[in-house]
Amino acid sequence: MLFLATAAVGLEGVVAGELRRLGYHATAVNGGAEFEGTFEDAMRANLFLRCADRVLLIVGRFEARTFEELFDGVLKLPWETYLDVNSRFPVSGNCARSQLMSVSDCQSITKKAIVNRLKAKYHRDWFQESGATVPISVTLHGNIARLTIDTSGEALNRRGYRTWNGEAPLRETLAAALVDLSPWRPGMPLCDPFCGTGTLLIEAAYKMSHRAPGLTRSFAMESFPGVSSEMSKRLRDLAAQEFQPERIQNIFGSDIDPEAIRLAKKHIVQAGIGGLIKVSVSDMKDVSPEQPNGVFLCNPPYGERLSDRKSCEALYRSMSHLLRQNSGWSLCVITSHPQFERCIGMRASKKRRFYNGRLECEYMIFEPKSK
Ligand SMILES: C[S@@+](CC[C@H](N)C(=O)[O-])C[C@H]1O[C@@H](n2cnc3c(N)ncnc32)[C@H](O)[C@@H]1O
Repeated sequence: MLFLATAAVGLEGVVAGELRRLGYHATAVNGGAEFEGTFEDAMRANLFLRCADRVLLIVGRFEARTFEELFDGVLKLPWETYLDVNSRFPVSGNCARSQLMSVSDCQSITKKAIVNRLKAKYHRDWFQESGATVPISVTLHGNIARLTIDTSGEALNRRGYRTWNGEAPLRETLAAALVDLSPWRPGMPLCDPFCGTGTLLIEAAYKMSHRAPGLTRSFAMESFPGVSSEMSKRLRDLAAQEFQPERIQNIFGSDIDPEAIRLAKKHIVQAGIGGLIKVSVSDMKDVSPEQPNGVFLCNPPYGERLSDRKSCEALYRSMSHLLRQNSGWSLCVITSHPQFERCIGMRASKKRRFYNGRLECEYMIFEPKSK
């Protein structure tokens, strides 16, 4: 079976790298990274991938310039392998730069073709769809139709620890990627002086402790026909054994907003690592870690509203003290503000572009001068 671990723009290579570390031959493609495997491999990917949004089973891809071609192509696919007589199979749709621009028509044609296929295979006229949900999606991109089954269900950024959102929280999957792409390695001190609700700190702690991000949540595929509950329990048990919370050390953060810190504390407890990350209320200007070396990793305010621009630029200027007073520390910052380097008065040694929601951002790494 062919799977696509979907990823936000810019994170395709990061997700391919994660899959390779899990032992798969993965190829970065538009929209994510593809790999071959079984349902067991999809379950591993769902449990362990930190930066992917979903794991999709690619049921088929074919050319479809007309609705007839779409119908015939869908009809030829082996739906009975994935759907039993009771399966509930909602069909969602997406069209981009295709001649078939009506999403709702594509959805209903796909549904009809699948029903026709199942009628012939199961010798039934009617399907009640009273069983477990198998979410199907039809995507038309140019003249190519892609039919997928979503094995994840809720998007993978929903780890289960975030129940309250503070001011502009980072998506967990993007936060995990920023941790991965930073010079921080488990064992080094990590500080987020704009920690908000704690996402970057929790994702770093998960990495440090080998905590599978999906450990305590369920995935749509667990109720698919042919997917054994014994297999998912065995993988989840293995993931639970790999989790070593005692490895979490020297991860700390602060924020000027007491409400954000209250939420961060709550999330840290909900993430199952209560007491292992220190967070406190502090202005970034007063942050001064004891350790001689480490990494500041942060998602400061962007000053998106014009009225906030000036105060945001003043804040960025004052961030230069983080590097001046902590000469062994690196600084990693994501912001949509185009003038960050000018404000802080330094050039980043590495830069990458990502989207944080709809905002195009730059992720910049400032290395210590001594390096
Ligand atoms: C974009 S949010 C960070 C969100 C965080 N990454 C999360 O996932 O929740 C920016 C944070 O910077 C904090 N902040 C703004 N000015 C600050 C300052 N001078 N010192 C410390 N924190 C500040 C805000 O309270 C806010 O929580």
